Amino acid sequence: MTKILMVGSEAAPFAKTGGLADVLGALPAALHELGDEVAVLLPRYGSIPLAELERIYDSLEIWLGPARYETSVYRTGRGATYYFLDCPQLYDRPGLYGDAEGDYPDNHIRFAVLSRAALEIARRIFRPHILHCHDWQAGLTPVYKKTLFAQDPTFLAMRTLFTIHNLGYQGLFPKQALPQIGLDETAFVPEGIEFFGRVNLLKGGLKYSDALTTVSKAYAREIQTSRYGFGLDGVLRARARVLTGILNGADYSEWNPETDRWIAANYSADDLSGKRACKRDLLAEFGLPETAMEQPVLGVVARLTSQKGADLIAEVAPDLPAEDAYLVVLGSGDAKYETQFAKLALAFPGRICVRLGYDNQLAHKIEAGSDMFLMPSQYEPCGLNQIYSLRYGTPPVVRATGGLDDTIEEDTGFKFQEYSAKALLDCIRTAVAAYRDRDCWVERMRRCMRKDFSWNISAKEYSALYRRLIGS
Ligand code: ADP
Ligand code: GLC
Repeated sequence: MTKILMVGSEAAPFAKTGGLADVLGALPAALHELGDEVAVLLPRYGSIPLAELERIYDSLEIWLGPARYETSVYRTGRGATYYFLDCPQLYDRPGLYGDAEGDYPDNHIRFAVLSRAALEIARRIFRPHILHCHDWQAGLTPVYKKTLFAQDPTFLAMRTLFTIHNLGYQGLFPKQALPQIGLDETAFVPEGIEFFGRVNLLKGGLKYSDALTTVSKAYAREIQTSRYGFGLDGVLRARARVLTGILNGADYSEWNPETDRWIAANYSADDLSGKRACKRDLLAEFGLPETAMEQPVLGVVARLTSQKGADLIAEVAPDLPAEDAYLVVLGSGDAKYETQFAKLALAFPGRICVRLGYDNQLAHKIEAGSDMFLMPSQYEPCGLNQIYSLRYGTPPVVRATGGLDDTIEEDTGFKFQEYSAKALLDCIRTAVAAYRDRDCWVERMRRCMRKDFSWNISAKEYSALYRRLIGS
């Protein structure tokens, strides 16, 4: 049995801002089903009530250079175990990474403590064969293991795997952060975590781990090019032999119209009647007219950032009424996009509806009640919403990049290549024309719903990779 300790900054249902949480909420259980023993280490954010957790370690001291952090460890979970690092001065705050003022200025310390604590937990509480680190927040675990603990027998046989969920977020800090994260100048070199004069925590993960994965095969190729590499493509090309792509799965216990508890009516590929009830409910939710029942409603659920093609959606939105199409958007993110979308909703009442914020139930209602789902991303490591859309019979309109390209086929959704508003609008027009051929459309919905992206397929790939890494 392989023992794996994962380290990351969010996992559903405990803390979530995006798809990483979906992955860390579902992959551990899928691995457990396969017989692996999995634990996940997360910060105990203020939003996670202590009363629901079991305190298992009272005083775990974490040293970063001369600075000492007093932490304790809590636990929950059946099957896969979730450990929570409690350190109120660092994690007991309203946001995961920041507040209205921006990112917390001590994020490097917050996640250095988490990464360093992972090694203490591996030593004292749960000794794994593999440390599986996710994104920049966990990038220092392999760095500490290979530097501070290079000679420590506890860690000699342990292997590190680093998964890139998004190369666009690197954890960049000024050089002055170095002593605060317990490292000295020897790591601050191009072969280490130095990146154009700054400290790059993601690069730490890329350089010091035994193996790397990312969340789709297409993205594994793309990040080795200058267009998608965010300046790290050279580092990734140099590690190409240990880099593989493993597609994310969908947690169908959460995202399945047959059992979804958040939507107006359940439905399946064999009986689609509930989907009309969901559409009617969505129209009511947004105050859209009854006439929209017979017209295409396009849904968006996304972080409103340039990654997600928010600018393209905003640019094509005014052209949608001419197509007799409606648009519903749920998202939060960059202030400039939030303002732009709020203005669009005011300019096109009863046509374009926007809800700014984070709302899990509404995300489910949009997946179920829309006729199509838009994801014109500039880049997309995997993307989960398009996979959920398939299961809800809501054909996705996507740009052919990363995981979107790997999961959407001509017979399910609609793909375009060039990152431009014109290409997106042309693709939407093709999709709207297809929608008007009712019988073909219903067949398309059924094909979408029958696609299987369950976690057990991808979990097998991770499990095999873990075994290769430990040489068993
Ligand atoms: P990313 O991780 O890049 O944001 P994914 O498609 O992998 O993109 O995952 C996004 C996840 O976050 C999905 O589960 C989606 O439903 C959810 N999500 C994103 N924005 C919102 C929002 N405003 N309200 C509710 N859920 C959201
Ligand atoms: C990131 C990516 C997204 C991916 C998710 C989970 O947030 O942007 O494409 O699905 O991580 O791996």
